[in-house]
Amino acid sequence: MSTPPKAPDMKIPIPRGPLPIFPPERPKRLVEITIDGKPASVPEGSTLLEAARTVGIETPTLCYLENLTPVNVCRICVVELENSRTLVPACSRKVEPGMKVQTDSERVRTSRKLVLELLASSVDVSTAPQFKEYMQRYDAAPERFGPTGSPAKAGERDQIQPGHHHAADGVHAETVAQPVKVDNDLYVRDYGKCILCYKCVEACGVDAQNTFAIAVAGRGFNARISTEFNVTLPDSACVYCGNCIGVCPTGALMFKSEHDMRQAGTWDEKKQSQTDTICPYCGVGCQLTVHVQEQQIVKITSPLDHSVTNGHLCIKGRFGYEWVNLKK
Ligand code: SF4
Ligand code: SF4
Ligand code: FES
Repeated sequence: MSTPPKAPDMKIPIPRGPLPIFPPERPKRLVEITIDGKPASVPEGSTLLEAARTVGIETPTLCYLENLTPVNVCRICVVELENSRTLVPACSRKVEPGMKVQTDSERVRTSRKLVLELLASSVDVSTAPQFKEYMQRYDAAPERFGPTGSPAKAGERDQIQPGHHHAADGVHAETVAQPVKVDNDLYVRDYGKCILCYKCVEACGVDAQNTFAIAVAGRGFNARISTEFNVTLPDSACVYCGNCIGVCPTGALMFKSEHDMRQAGTWDEKKQSQTDTICPYCGVGCQLTVHVQEQQIVKITSPLDHSVTNGHLCIKGRFGYEWVNLKK
């Protein structure tokens, strides 16, 4: 009688932590630079932003995120580099031996303040806590750019006509001149809060989803994020992964659950808890952070530094939680 095949040995350890890289990366040469008078030694290929972080200097960013390719559009991260005519973007400028960098000089602070003021005077930043922190840090006063410094809030935008170019005249650029787009049950697009940072486009494209449902349409004041031919999301290529919401820094893209609760005045982050768990839908093992308020799941995110997701999910992990909230 032949011996039956052995069951797999359950003691085989399951690999954990970051996925192994093959072939292993070559050790990198260290580059010495000086940041705000402090010496920093970082692997070649690092950015000034990464180098600054190694010496405890936090540089503000808006269009940069660890899990996306830098696009250099917001210029909030600029720093002063010795012998450079212009300020340079820390999020994408690579270190070179002997660089001397100032991250908090008067020139840098003035530039950052102006960027914040121009953005805050043209879009609604009311749901962008990080942005508001930066405004305090740089003493930004967007009202300098006109009496309507605080742009129209969501409810008023339906009346705004597109194609006008200055908030101070009561007229607005194309991005802001759009009513809130509520065309599906999962997420809402409010481009009146959009700072055109391109992060959603990157996440929908080659950096994560490869769906290309959204892109920047138009130029100059007519530039705005749009689906193909400006169709509604259900008619677009969107697969509702929500990765664009995960990276949006201003709340322009928002879970419908959060949007509805904000409208009803019941959204309260102080009452919310966050619990990490594993997505139950398939074997990939994505990590979910479940945001709960008063025993109801109100939204789901994923940590940027998780080796499986890098912060990105699919429709099931991101939105497939409603059944948990159903009352018997
Ligand atoms: S939900 Fe996903 S597919 Fe749809 S626009 Fe956002 S990133 Fe693209
Ligand atoms: S919708 Fe959000 S992520 Fe997309 S460009 Fe605007 S601010 Fe950036
Ligand atoms: S964060 Fe560097 S240009 Fe936007």
